[in-house]
Amino acid sequence: MKDVTGKVAFITGGGSGMGLGMARSFAAAGMKVMIGDIQLEPAQKAVDELKAKGYEAACVQVDVSSMESVQAAADKTIEVFGKVHVLSNNAGVAVGGYSEACSMRNWNWVVDVNLWGVVYGLQAFVPLILAQDEGGHVISTASMAGMVGLRGAGPYNATKFAVVGMMETFAADHRKHNISASVLCPGIVATNIGDSARNRPEEYGGAVAASGKDKTAEMLAGGLDPDIVGDLVLEAIQDDQFYVFTDPGLKHLIETRCERIIAGYDWASNSKSLDGAKQSGGLPG
Ligand SMILES: NC(=O)c1ccc[n+]([C@@H]2O[C@H](COP(=O)([O-])OP(=O)(O)OC[C@H]3O[C@@H](n4cnc5c(N)ncnc54)[C@H](O)[C@@H]3O)[C@@H](O)[C@H]2O)c1
Repeated sequence: MKDVTGKVAFITGGGSGMGLGMARSFAAAGMKVMIGDIQLEPAQKAVDELKAKGYEAACVQVDVSSMESVQAAADKTIEVFGKVHVLSNNAGVAVGGYSEACSMRNWNWVVDVNLWGVVYGLQAFVPLILAQDEGGHVISTASMAGMVGLRGAGPYNATKFAVVGMMETFAADHRKHNISASVLCPGIVATNIGDSARNRPEEYGGAVAASGKDKTAEMLAGGLDPDIVGDLVLEAIQDDQFYVFTDPGLKHLIETRCERIIAGYDWASNSKSLDGAKQSGGLPG
């Protein structure tokens, strides 16, 4: 989408971090921005900041883990701006731990927000973009944890790999409908993600403040400026770039994974069990 001027964007998790960075970059490029966040106060603060600069912005409280809530946010976006062209499924929470040891409440939280949140975003907004027939762009925030398995992050990895897979399919399915797509795979970005439980709903264990003194907090503080990610996402939308990486220095991790996958194929090619076996030679789709 080369010309973004006057286009309407809906961003989940737009009250903080990369979502806020996107809101700033999109608005500065002449887009109308609807910020959705589970925390209304930071979202409203962001809107005030954008409006003070003369940009068009509004916000809505949304819990992306609820289809009803995401649908209401979509309705609100149309009520306020009349249209929607860009969807950024960005809200996410970080849950660490081994898959077998992570509490089921935390498993449910990370899946409900990071995976179902993206599904609900697609379900509520894509029919609107299709019906408008003016083209559009959908970007979902995954992670480098959607590209390579990170130690001690099984549940988070599971959700982010799912988002990458879903967006690869989405891009292929909707090219013909003039809806382009991206998947954002950030490295370390200096946001509040380490403090994700600050607004964790009661059903998942309630709010807990981060200590701010662990290694993850230190690493995050030294990460990329989220406003730069906002500019990068805008650039990706304008260039129709699918994979959006924020840290080119991490390319070796992807190369190592690809080499290991190819080695798996080479092993299969030489396996006694498969030797001479009948194969379909294709995959559906
Ligand atoms: N910061 C990093 O290093 C990093 C790296 C890779 C991927 N990510 C991903 O980036 C995305 C943005 O996170 P961030 O790093 O900017 O963190 P952040 O905590 O600064 O921002 C996340 C925003 O999402 C909101 N949110 C949380 N739960 C929500 C819900 N149920 N409904 C609606 N909004 C909700 C929060 O209130 C917050 O405003 C997430 O998907 C995260 O997994 C972050």
